[in-house]
Amino acid sequence: MDERASDGERVRNQPRRTSGAGAAGFDSAIGETLVPADELQRRVRDLAAEISRDYEGRDLVLIGVLKGAVLFLGDLMRHLEVPCEIDFMAVSSYGSETDSSGVVRILKDLDSSIEGRDVLIVEDIIDSGLTLHYLLRNLRARNPASLEVCALLTKPERRRVDLPIRYVGFEIPNRFVIGYGLDYAQRYRNLDYVAVLAQTDQAQAGA
Ligand code: IMP
Ligand code: MG
Repeated sequence: MDERASDGERVRNQPRRTSGAGAAGFDSAIGETLVPADELQRRVRDLAAEISRDYEGRDLVLIGVLKGAVLFLGDLMRHLEVPCEIDFMAVSSYGSETDSSGVVRILKDLDSSIEGRDVLIVEDIIDSGLTLHYLLRNLRARNPASLEVCALLTKPERRRVDLPIRYVGFEIPNRFVIGYGLDYAQRYRNLDYVAVLAQTDQAQAGA
């Protein structure tokens, strides 16, 4: 009985996998497109070129922050022209529905030591900045040779702590966004573009 329900639901509730205006019509939670797929890909390629220049001859480790950074990290590393390793962390931020508190729990730690290595944190989006602030402090204590941040999106209006973000894909307004790794209630990560969540009354609930 559960299987019956879940199969039907899954198909009905999935957004389209392809991009474009069609997907917006398919699922009413998907609002206006903020960054179309081709623009994302162009910017990711530019960031990869910049990172390739900066990290030439160094010992680069990309640290993806699960789960939101998965698509971004995958596309970014595909275009890097320097050797790199990847590792992942998963964190969860305590707080109210709308705001992270800055108190962060590590759900999955790195597999390997980063001591003496050139670490680049790859994040989907910086909102208040509190999660990243914690991560930077935590990783700095492990004595990497260098520690920088590459974020696909930032919402400068929401920032509560000042952070050194070396590479930024796009600055966006204070809207709750989904797609290209970003979720609302764990869905919509598979969209290949970034859209605004249409139900704005729920819009802040996903951090
Ligand atoms: P911060 O600690 O407030 O900077 O929270 C950052 C985290 O909240 C991000 O890594 C995302 O997981 C999540 N987040 C913040 N804004 C959005 C959004 O607009 N859409 C989806 N997730 C978001
Ligand atoms: Mg995140």
